[in-house]
Amino acid sequence: MRLRNIPRAESTVQAHRTVIRRPEDQKGCWRQVFQNRSPIYIEIGMGKGSFLLNMAKQHPDINFIGIERYTSVLLRAVEKYDTEEFQDLQNVRFVCMDARNVADVFAEGEVSRIYLNFSDPWPKARHAKRRLTSTEFLERYEKILCEKGTLEFKTDNTELFNFSLEQIREAGWTLLAFTYDLHHNEAMNRGNVMTEYEEKFSGRGNPINKLIAEKRNF
Ligand SMILES: C[S@@+](CC[C@H](N)C(=O)[O-])C[C@H]1O[C@@H](n2cnc3c(N)ncnc32)[C@H](O)[C@@H]1O
Repeated sequence: MRLRNIPRAESTVQAHRTVIRRPEDQKGCWRQVFQNRSPIYIEIGMGKGSFLLNMAKQHPDINFIGIERYTSVLLRAVEKYDTEEFQDLQNVRFVCMDARNVADVFAEGEVSRIYLNFSDPWPKARHAKRRLTSTEFLERYEKILCEKGTLEFKTDNTELFNFSLEQIREAGWTLLAFTYDLHHNEAMNRGNVMTEYEEKFSGRGNPINKLIAEKRNF
């Protein structure tokens, strides 16, 4: 998702109290940012933030960090945070960065869970390494996830989903659960919070795929 250029996006996002401007400076110190010892869950490619904000509201005992590459998109999330429904949440921060650099921003084992929702499919084979579920990205996630840390991935794109299942296996991660039809899988759908894309695609009748995987144990 890349919204048209919005001139005020950069300044509004950078000035917002929930946005961490130099995230590398917080590496290993994220608990101090939140001033508690709650687990840290991150969402990579957060888009307009509906999932992250609703999760944070439902789980005040978890710290949530939303990562998004474009300020024009992140602007929508901070605007949503500023609404009456979310403005008092203490357990939310946003970071504008390319997820390629997550290991520069989080220390070893600092993150307990990673959410990937409706990640860009990069359909051309030569772009496979850019997919957020490729083994190249799993290696980066492995560095920042704690022992038994998990990855949760949802998409309506079955080709990308099958690719992701293969990559999880290839990387030696443990597949804990998966479904090709989340909204009709009672156990996996319990407590499900929909993302903007999930609302859109399931509204068109597309089934939603979901997998949960645990990082490789040494
Ligand atoms: C298709 S949208 C999905 C948005 C949201 N997760 C949802 O489900 O509604 C994918 C988002 O991931 C962001 N994104 C893609 N690659 C990224 C990367 N390497 N680092 C950070 N964000 C990324 C895009 O800018 C876009 O906003």
